[in-house]
Amino acid sequence: MEANQFGKKGWTPDRIDNLNDQVFVVTGTTSGTGFEATKILLSKGAKVVMLNRNPKKAGDTIDKLKQELDNNIYVTNIQMDLSKQTSVKKAAQEILKTVPHIDALICNAVIAQVTKQTLTIDGWESQMGTNYFGNWTLQALLFPLIEKSKGRIVTVGSMGYDMGIKTIKFDDLNWDKDYTPNNAYSQSKLAQIMSMYELQNKLKEAGKIDIKAYVCHPGSSRTNLINTSGSFMMKFIFNLMKLSPLTQSAEKGAYPQLMCATEPNLEQSGFYGPTGRSNWVGPVGAHEIKPHAKDSAVAKRLWELSERETGIKWNI
Ligand SMILES: NC(=O)c1ccc[n+]([C@@H]2O[C@H](COP(=O)([O-])OP(=O)(O)OC[C@H]3O[C@@H](n4cnc5c(N)ncnc54)[C@H](OP(=O)(O)O)[C@@H]3O)[C@@H](O)[C@H]2O)c1
Repeated sequence: MEANQFGKKGWTPDRIDNLNDQVFVVTGTTSGTGFEATKILLSKGAKVVMLNRNPKKAGDTIDKLKQELDNNIYVTNIQMDLSKQTSVKKAAQEILKTVPHIDALICNAVIAQVTKQTLTIDGWESQMGTNYFGNWTLQALLFPLIEKSKGRIVTVGSMGYDMGIKTIKFDDLNWDKDYTPNNAYSQSKLAQIMSMYELQNKLKEAGKIDIKAYVCHPGSSRTNLINTSGSFMMKFIFNLMKLSPLTQSAEKGAYPQLMCATEPNLEQSGFYGPTGRSNWVGPVGAHEIKPHAKDSAVAKRLWELSERETGIKWNI
């Protein structure tokens, strides 16, 4: 394995300089890696616009951040339910009206391991609809603001991209056949990742090399992930795993997304996460990604399908 470009300890937030005047939009900050990433960004002087579905939880999160950091931090919440296209569009409109520029959009929110096949209000399998199509629309609508500040889009993926089927199930996107919570979740994470590498291609073709798109993952981090939608058995296994050395803190899980949002001159083609055992824990850096995640023929087809399904086109 190649040496970690950030040294033995890997990337850590010590590398972040002062972030005064920088604006970060972060989704899903009421718990887990999104909360920890927000806290570290604020501690470095950044402004953070959080996008959360639950206003009460978002309010409690702001109180907690102020208590743990300082009353003078700049943090706000705009309500957004990533599983509903109307809500994503409304939130994007509000951001476009009220936020002057975006240095990085961190797409962190997710639902995972949904027990039974469930459709979103827009008619997609719930994990695909929330994790993939929700982000598609959010990213495309906010792209002008990101372009304005030569900013970045950071997609928080998962090693799950390699734990389900190794391509996009174009003939049965809603899993009417063979639904399993893991297959459907993994598919949504694979789609998220593929669309980012395809976005890199599109930006390059358009000569827009100042705007960056990154893909990372938090390894195996102790968060609320499975507790929100997983089955009893998944919750049991996940909570047992939390006791083992094969998991790390949610704070460490936030490092890859923070690195992708702030580290200057970071190579876009990489896949960033923990580089230790199974890529679940360990020093943060670039590590292998399997070729199926970068299959550009599949990614192009997915891109066109996403434009048709959502009716949203990127203005690149
Ligand atoms: N933890 C791990 O080991 C692990 C492994 C691989 C990948 N990941 C990735 O890491 C990222 C963060 O996950 P996490 O582990 O920190 O999970 P988490 O603790 O469950 O946090 C998920 C966040 O997403 C929000 N969310 C869920 N559905 C939403 C919706 N419809 N609209 C808006 N926000 C919504 C949740 O808000 P509520 O409070 O309203 O539920 C919460 O703030 C995800 O992209 C996940 O795929 C995690």
